[in-house]
Amino acid sequence: MKKLFFAVMAVVIVAGTVFAGAGSDNKGGGSGGTFVGIAMPETHVLRWIKDGASLKKFAEAKGFRAQDQYANADQNLQNTQIQNFLTQGAKAIIIGCVNDGVAAAVADAARDKVTVIAYDRIIPNSADYDYYITFNNFKVGQFQGQGIERGLDLKSASAAAPKYITLFAGSPTDGNAFFFFDGAMSVLNPYIESGALIVVGPYPKTSKDTANFQRIATENWQAPVAKTRMENLLNGDAKDVTLDAVLAPNDTLARAIIEACKADAKYASKLPIVTGQDAEAASTASIKNGEQYMTVFKDTTKLAEAAIALAEAAVKGATPNIPGAVLASSIGLESIGDTGRKIVRAYLLDPVIIYRENWKDPVNAGFYTQEEIDQNNLK
Ligand code: GAL
Repeated sequence: MKKLFFAVMAVVIVAGTVFAGAGSDNKGGGSGGTFVGIAMPETHVLRWIKDGASLKKFAEAKGFRAQDQYANADQNLQNTQIQNFLTQGAKAIIIGCVNDGVAAAVADAARDKVTVIAYDRIIPNSADYDYYITFNNFKVGQFQGQGIERGLDLKSASAAAPKYITLFAGSPTDGNAFFFFDGAMSVLNPYIESGALIVVGPYPKTSKDTANFQRIATENWQAPVAKTRMENLLNGDAKDVTLDAVLAPNDTLARAIIEACKADAKYASKLPIVTGQDAEAASTASIKNGEQYMTVFKDTTKLAEAAIALAEAAVKGATPNIPGAVLASSIGLESIGDTGRKIVRAYLLDPVIIYRENWKDPVNAGFYTQEEIDQNNLK
């Protein structure tokens, strides 16, 4: 009889644990408060893992129940994850989308009167949500252009002794990629027009040159795609020149491009100036060691905290006042909130340019733990 009692108890405890965590991607989490769904696009770009964890932490700190999910750059999977959040009664869903296919899931959320916040990536072709929170992505691109301007001393360059550059862009499915590229080219185009800077490979003057932009874009920000394209450039268009710079749109792709260059004897002693963004630990280590030239630190801990403050205000029906963020329309950047179907309220946080001289800024900001420093040899 005793054995039967303990067997039944074991079943009750296991069942209780399973149902208590039903749908929870990570065990534990907030009390039975308002439920917030967190839908991140991928994990192969490491920063999103940090974003998801920060969003969950700040949501629970406010008493929300929160669940973070990752979509492996598969929009259909993310839409299913969003539907699951709706089934669980989410009152707010924070979405870093993969592509515009997310609009269908956002329409369902709107029908259920659930607040949707576009997180760091605008949700294009949708009129079914009101808020977008990101960094000033045009400025991120300008920083990348300024990094090349500084690294090549373009202000002193001339057509008599031109510098050579090749161009990469982010994923064509990501609205940010167009702002990054146009910001960088707003700095670089005058040097190209004067002949001081020569583009090797496709040259879209702006992202509106769709055909050429597609030729330099990197589907879903996949590092292997960028590495293969760089290898093809080194054996093709760039075979008979020495590249002085590569416009790389983020750190994951920057490191893949550097890997390709290091395998080419021409760059054994001197790498081109390679840009990036996200201040990923591995790239910060690379900058410290003199390989990658620069990155852009976007404190996504602050972005996550601001996004949760926005969700809290929206759920309460209050007018959001987000510390550390500025309304795009108040600085003439309303177009950043243009979904193609509606102008949503876009809140922008400020990025920080990182060179070898100030590589420690993300560490001093507490963006890295000691363990991450040790793992990436950031002494
Ligand atoms: C962009 C984001 C960048 C970078 C990139 C790759 O949308 O703004 O910071 O993370 O995605 O995932």
